[in-house]
Amino acid sequence: MKDKMIDIFTKAYKYNEGVSVFFAPGRVNLIGEHTDYNGGHVFPVALSIGTYGAFAKREDNRLRFYSANFEEAGVIESSLEDLNPSEEAGWTNYLKGIIWTFAGRGMKIEKGLDIVLWGNIPNGSGLSSSASIEVLMGYALRELYGFSVTNVELAQIGQYSENNFNGMNCGIMDQFASAMGKKDNAIFLDTADLSFEYAPIALKDKKIVVTNSKVKHSLVTSAYNDRRSSCELALKELQGAVAIKGLGDLSVEQFEEYKHLIKDEDRVKKAKHAVYENIRTIRAVQALKDNDIEAFGKLMNESHVSLRDDYDVSCPEIDVLVEAAWSVDGVTGSRITGGGFGGCTVSIVEDRAIDSFKEVVTKAYKEKCDMVPEFYVVEIGNGPCTL
Ligand code: GLA
Repeated sequence: MKDKMIDIFTKAYKYNEGVSVFFAPGRVNLIGEHTDYNGGHVFPVALSIGTYGAFAKREDNRLRFYSANFEEAGVIESSLEDLNPSEEAGWTNYLKGIIWTFAGRGMKIEKGLDIVLWGNIPNGSGLSSSASIEVLMGYALRELYGFSVTNVELAQIGQYSENNFNGMNCGIMDQFASAMGKKDNAIFLDTADLSFEYAPIALKDKKIVVTNSKVKHSLVTSAYNDRRSSCELALKELQGAVAIKGLGDLSVEQFEEYKHLIKDEDRVKKAKHAVYENIRTIRAVQALKDNDIEAFGKLMNESHVSLRDDYDVSCPEIDVLVEAAWSVDGVTGSRITGGGFGGCTVSIVEDRAIDSFKEVVTKAYKEKCDMVPEFYVVEIGNGPCTL
């Protein structure tokens, strides 16, 4: 892959002296959805797919960007004087935002960069290609300039940049999974204080299968930010009665006792999801430790129902994929994964059932949505690296 990246770099810029190649992974979340901005738990894995980048320092202050995924856009030129988000800047906003965030933390670069990217995460699939780009850029700055930042800080910088440069009020899960990924392990992260533990995923006769709906509904950012605002308002209403910092501090019993304080029915549903999903995630990790993968799968299914009915982030296409998955003998659990409104589902499927899973899900999707899904058997990978 290093050679491929240097090749792309050479074609784009007609030189290749001083080029370094780095990688950062995408992620898929097994359970714990829309809990990460509520001080709750998440349980993602880093993928073996992600974004590769080749970088070379320049002698002036120019920034040049090229993505082999968007060849038609050609080389996009900018400079360190122009670290402002703009619609025309498209995907390069993710890179500029990281340079801007580093500068804001006293890690300013004085000279520009030539950058090429190539990623193998399907575009718009909700497998965190943007977080992988952010972590890649932060990792590259650290390696190229010797800045002293930990991988956890790379995740925080990525989230800060996405919130403040890109206007997406995301939590920290995606960047954390990308920056802290560990091969064959999931990350059980408490977003209230960023304490975490790795949990080995050894599913013997089963695989984690991601199904890409290839659908991405519009207004995802505003719908996402609305959900977050609802949770924040519900939290304020509850804080009148209970001393909590986030919805993730509540037990199910406490939530049921105090939910009448939330003055809007829709907001009760949103807060309910956040509280119940957090508890489900804690239980799911315990089930995994107890080797009770059936219980883990049931919690995944419950997570989907809650995201569909209470949190309202599913869509008809995703529901078709999940319901078809549930109907297959040998599927332990299946749910929507990621931010929602399209993207992917994640399922745990027995090896013997993988073929029939693909067949049944493809048939249902074709019949009901006239579309063909894509499948990806997950390989859990490591965090960012130098090639
Ligand atoms: C997106 C966000 C994450 C998280 C998920 C939902 O992926 O970037 O921070 O909130 O949605 O769990």
